Amino acid sequence: MFLWGTATAAYQIEGATDEAGRGVSIWDTFAHEPGRTRDGHTGDVACDHYHRWREDVALMAGLGVNAYRFSISWPRVLPLGAGEVNRPGLDFYDRLVDALLAAGVRPVPTLFHWDLPQALEERGGWMSRDVAELFADYAATVAARLADRVPLWITLNEPFVHMAYGYAMGLHAPGRLLMTDALPAAHHQLLGHGRAVQALRAAGARQVALTNNCTPVRPASGEEADLRAADAYDVLHNRLFNDPVLLAGYPDLSAYTGHTGSLDFVRDGDLETIATPIDALGINYYNPTRIAAPTDEGLPFTDAGITGHPTTAFGWPVVPDGLRELLTGLKARYGAALPPILITENGCSQPDVQEPDGTIADEARIAFLDRHIAAMRQAMAEGVDVRGYFVWSLLDNFEWAEGYHQRFGLVHVDFATQRRTPKRSYHWYRRFLEAQKAGQ
Ligand code: NOJ
Repeated sequence: MFLWGTATAAYQIEGATDEAGRGVSIWDTFAHEPGRTRDGHTGDVACDHYHRWREDVALMAGLGVNAYRFSISWPRVLPLGAGEVNRPGLDFYDRLVDALLAAGVRPVPTLFHWDLPQALEERGGWMSRDVAELFADYAATVAARLADRVPLWITLNEPFVHMAYGYAMGLHAPGRLLMTDALPAAHHQLLGHGRAVQALRAAGARQVALTNNCTPVRPASGEEADLRAADAYDVLHNRLFNDPVLLAGYPDLSAYTGHTGSLDFVRDGDLETIATPIDALGINYYNPTRIAAPTDEGLPFTDAGITGHPTTAFGWPVVPDGLRELLTGLKARYGAALPPILITENGCSQPDVQEPDGTIADEARIAFLDRHIAAMRQAMAEGVDVRGYFVWSLLDNFEWAEGYHQRFGLVHVDFATQRRTPKRSYHWYRRFLEAQKAGQ
């Protein structure tokens, strides 16, 4: 059965960061540092989902989705990242899973959506190899409790963005500015993924996937220098995270490893672990990227920007055909090594102004979703095996460094009152899902 769902992440919706034994995450620390997020917003309360989860499950039941991708907060389960388990934390997800199943919604948990326990940051975060092993232990702990009811697991969310924004450019937690020295954070996340796949399977997990953020890369021109730069960007953003998992090898990273070309943090056997077979590859798609030759001595590319398309409230170009291009490109590159694909995130932020009668007339979001689903179906018609599509997001939520300024939800959240109001796009998706069920 094709999975039609919505997606969220723990730190973006749960709130209750200081409740029921939850430990501190790197996002708690980061968001509380002055100047890190827009207007100093934090996830302290977010959508208060930790207390309002029943209402949120009811919203999904009303929507008619058959799957829900959420994330489990590592520090809620293991406050120090390892060692003692916080029972109330596991109980929370246990109740959520049961409520989802009772509502006919398949639970699809992601084990790591960027909220590393702060105690592990103090041990080096993902720059430290130990964290990969601790991630597998955490995966085993969660699976021991939930694997009997969870049909599909996702290990990591967007390791590229976590490495690039969190470790290279300092825009996300943990706020490090390592630039190309951040590569070990990619390798250790991938190693953690591979070890977690093994731990999940040992605990009886049925299906396991990894979610990568992928972008089709377009060279700014046919000039040799632009083509070379586009290839270098594709290596960093896409192939660095897909090749080891699907082909058991890294692409040529010499553009990022300086003169020595050293990948000395990669040990014998690591690539075999990373390539432990998965049942599906999760893809988060937002937009394509246009790349030109570098303009300075730093990175081997420049982002030339996509023009000539409408943009979202975030300023991201709306290019539905980029999804078809991405999916057919993955099929062309990986062939038989490509497992079935799940679109684990797709969606857009819009201004979403609430009218006096309460309506949120987000026609631009409806058009966005409609056209992206059509592009996905086009790729399927061209031979790509896609098994699911999840809208980002169920609720307006904490959009990382942008705080509450970017609204991605099918459901509007008034953050002063926590009142939830389904937008027009919610009703559109509900009717769309009804039509799917009726076989239209
Ligand atoms: C991808 C991330 O996984 C999610 O956390 C984020 O909110 C969306 N993109 C939108 O930026």
